[in-house]
Amino acid sequence: MKILAISGSPRDNKTQYMIKKVLEKGADFAEIVKLSDLHIKPCTGCRACAKAPFECQQEDDMTRLSIKLRLAEVIILASPVYFDNVTGVMKNFFDRCLGLYWSKRLEGKKVILLAVAGGERQDSAERCLDSMQFWAKLLKMKVVARIGVTNGKPEVKNHELEQLSNELLSWIE
Ligand SMILES: Cc1cc2nc3c(=O)[nH]c(=O)nc-3n(C[C@H](O)[C@H](O)[C@H](O)COP(=O)(O)O)c2cc1C
Repeated sequence: MKILAISGSPRDNKTQYMIKKVLEKGADFAEIVKLSDLHIKPCTGCRACAKAPFECQQEDDMTRLSIKLRLAEVIILASPVYFDNVTGVMKNFFDRCLGLYWSKRLEGKKVILLAVAGGERQDSAERCLDSMQFWAKLLKMKVVARIGVTNGKPEVKNHELEQLSNELLSWIE
């Protein structure tokens, strides 16, 4: 598994469409994880993860997801826009990445950001993308592409998504 796609949508709908389109060419090397299918408890703010071995004291699905993140060469982060931001499950996931921030284990990894807004405002999608970009920036990852769509119509950006799908193959070894 060279590509890990993380979805913040609880549905198999528009966000899933964007992920599948980007993975059209690299599907055999990819895994899609829907955060809403996992049991990830909220960060308790205990800061135990700030010290080696930089692991969370809580036992849940984040342990396995952290390993998958560390092994992936390219990470796709995709979220629907909820209240001009990422979904709650996505923000919860960000908070639980604090140990990965301290351990610096994701530094330099390539990240693709995808967002879909149901409304017509492009700035809604941009805010959601910015949130994900700040997460990636804090973890010192490299954002290689970001695509935001409005009106719940990801197919409008099919050409861009298909181009990205081709490029993605050149980013995995
Ligand atoms: C709780 C909630 C909040 C939402 N907030 C916004 C919003 O602020 N701006 C917007 O354009 N769409 C908003 N939407 C619409 C979703 O972005 C839209 O339905 C999107 O396509 C959902 O993605 P999905 O099909 O992958 O689930 C919201 C939807 C829900 C359920």
